[in-house]
Amino acid sequence: MQSGVWALQPLADMSVAEFRDWQELLETRTGVVLNEQRRSFLQTNLSARMRELGVEGYGAYYQQVTDGPRGAVEWSTLLDRLTVQETRFFRHRPSFDVLEAYLRERLAQGLKQPLALWSVGCASGEEPYSLAISAAEVLRTSEFEGQFGVTGTDISLNALSKAREGLFSSRRFEHMDAELSKRYFQTQEDGRLKVLPSLASRVCCARLNVLELNKAPMSGMDVIFCQNLLIYFRRWRRREILNHLAERLAPGGLLVVGVGEVAGWQHPLLTPVANEHVLAFTRQG
Ligand SMILES: C[S@@+](CC[C@H](N)C(=O)[O-])C[C@H]1O[C@@H](n2cnc3c(N)ncnc32)[C@H](O)[C@@H]1O
Repeated sequence: MQSGVWALQPLADMSVAEFRDWQELLETRTGVVLNEQRRSFLQTNLSARMRELGVEGYGAYYQQVTDGPRGAVEWSTLLDRLTVQETRFFRHRPSFDVLEAYLRERLAQGLKQPLALWSVGCASGEEPYSLAISAAEVLRTSEFEGQFGVTGTDISLNALSKAREGLFSSRRFEHMDAELSKRYFQTQEDGRLKVLPSLASRVCCARLNVLELNKAPMSGMDVIFCQNLLIYFRRWRRREILNHLAERLAPGGLLVVGVGEVAGWQHPLLTPVANEHVLAFTRQG
């Protein structure tokens, strides 16, 4: 069929069995749950990709995506269409206020080694760069200036390559203090802003599926941010992931989770931060 004709075809309805197969595939591989209300989201995004490839039928495409190494390449493309990668700088300001207060307290005690911060589900980089700016600002005029490193991890290779590029449209800065954007970014000829090498060199981004945290090398982290990722997961999985993250914290470390993303979770090593606007915990020293 010619591509123009193909594009005019109405969206084929997905059978119950096909929906279940795709739901299961996404959840098994990423943890992300697509409930019945998200059926049309799944259908629209799969169809768009199938049109690009000229594949007819959700079943045939499923076979293609699950077919060995070739399927893995296609999966990596499809993943970006099926996961939400929305993010912004300093998302949920109260979480960053808690972070900065915590960093000031750590600084007051004196640093024995550089601070290690981790953004879990870092998307296109706004969160890890925000963590880096907070740390840089707190340490800026101290003897420990620049003594920190931020790791950003995500399952999406596409999101990670954007994060590594560190180039953002000026619209992304509407809510950032102008002083900060001037201090840490350089405006390019096309109007976009690029993170300055001095800050970029403190941020490192790597692929990590949070379902495989047991394979992750991170340990002894001073700060872990995990916001707007767990909401897509089942409750038991959210708890399991947080239990893993708690173990990756250094004694005295801070874990920040998106507000409302996990209810009633506790961990024997952690103490909740007393602030009703954030969901954060510190690991006992
Ligand atoms: C909505 S964004 C949140 C970004 C950022 N943390 C924030 O709060 O703005 C969720 C990110 O989680 C990533 N993600 C989804 N499933 C994942 C998994 N199993 N492992 C790691 N990252 C995952 C997505 O690729 C996406 O970039």
